[in-house]
Amino acid sequence: MACGLLASSGLAACRGGTDGAAAVDGAVGDPGTSASAAAAAGDAGSAGANGPASTVATSSTVAPATLASSELVAAELPGRPTDSSVTISVIPAAAMELFYEYGSEPGRYTARTAPQQAAAGRPAETTLTGLQPGTRYYYRLRVGDRAGAERTFTTQRRTGQSFTFAVQGDSHPERVGKQFDAALYARTLASAASAGPDFYVCMGDDFSVDTLKSVTAETVRSVYLRQRQWLTAVDAPLFLVNGNHEQASMANLDGTADNVAVWAQNWRNSYFPQPAPDGFYGGNAEPVPNIGLLRNYFSYTWGDALFVVIDPYWHTPSTVDNEFGADKDTGKKRDQWAITLGATQYRWLEQTLRASKATHKFVFAHHVNGTGRGGVELANTFEWGDLEQFPAYRPGWSEPIHQLMASTGVSIFFQGHDHLFARQELDGVVYQTMPEPANPFETIENEAAYRSGVKLPNSGHVRVDVTPAEVTVTYIRSHLDRPDEIAYTYTVR
Ligand SMILES: [Fe+2]
Ligand SMILES: [Fe+2]
Repeated sequence: MACGLLASSGLAACRGGTDGAAAVDGAVGDPGTSASAAAAAGDAGSAGANGPASTVATSSTVAPATLASSELVAAELPGRPTDSSVTISVIPAAAMELFYEYGSEPGRYTARTAPQQAAAGRPAETTLTGLQPGTRYYYRLRVGDRAGAERTFTTQRRTGQSFTFAVQGDSHPERVGKQFDAALYARTLASAASAGPDFYVCMGDDFSVDTLKSVTAETVRSVYLRQRQWLTAVDAPLFLVNGNHEQASMANLDGTADNVAVWAQNWRNSYFPQPAPDGFYGGNAEPVPNIGLLRNYFSYTWGDALFVVIDPYWHTPSTVDNEFGADKDTGKKRDQWAITLGATQYRWLEQTLRASKATHKFVFAHHVNGTGRGGVELANTFEWGDLEQFPAYRPGWSEPIHQLMASTGVSIFFQGHDHLFARQELDGVVYQTMPEPANPFETIENEAAYRSGVKLPNSGHVRVDVTPAEVTVTYIRSHLDRPDEIAYTYTVR
């Protein structure tokens, strides 16, 4: 895929290399005035409402007209890939009948999905099934005689297959002029896309609602839509990690359907196909009233690697980090033993890590204990690692999270929240703190909290190349005024 910038919007646009179809990346209008306003808040949380899964064999040699970008509010976005399926979401501007055609060679589509009716302004999910594992597929959206750009996804890698995935830290699109520049974000996303990653992990603080003037179902929706319009530029399945500024948390529940946590999680699951427990993914099987399955913690195996995403915010009854609606952060005064994954998630994490025979194991969370500043500096504190007090505060639990990661051979723990690149190591576990992807200033935020390791300034993303024998982590910095640069790379065996 060749990617460039849309000058009018700062969004990256990728063009299929074989069929000549023009880019159809996200519509660039103000999300609040788009056709998707037709989607009512009560319709959120429809992630489970997949479209037709049946496919028919076909051989397309048609050269259809180009689907105009204005026909979509948000472009195609794949999610929850497995060994035999993937779910693709698209948001049409007007009601349309759509299908996807796909195959394992560029420009040669040997199968297509059944026609599906999609409503204006609402995410339409389609699950492609019957796929072969370890295979790169090429697909395009079809609407009548028109086609979207060719896009790709890859099914689960087999053991022994090498692959690449990529990770971004806190994008904070609400911090325009401080930590966010749309053009720089586009460059970072295009840089990530250029490696053709199997998937892209976002570490949280990508959907902040804390600075909205008015927090309503509609304003929260606009946050999710806007981020989705950016992230389609990566052209890869997305996995989302919950952050503190999402305010998607147990502490914000009030027993009704009208509160920020319900809005945030429902729009998240509506706009981004995220995994729920099934035969492929492990994860959170406990439904929450007014939401259903949260899809907030989950695991999967890919090639020779285990991936585990965890989340304290949805399982801690009190506020974990900054309090929703409060003028300032009062977190430092709180009892941090109250912050927890909860017994169910902890036992799932323990079982998942102990049962996995994967050579490489990666754990992702927004931050150690969900709050604070630092990496290994906090690794021996509270539920995460205070061995001395752990038995009293967590009776019946086997060991703190850090020690559990060390004893089960976790290779790298990825975290966001602190807005710098930092690589540290403790007890054989690498603590990889993620830089921001779109901070136009070359800052090393929270540097003083990191007393060891390699620390580098913003901004960019991290590419991870995984082979059966080793893992290579590369920090690629992006700039507005010069080409990308490889800022740092290291290998874990
Ligand atoms: Fe954060
Ligand atoms: Fe952040």
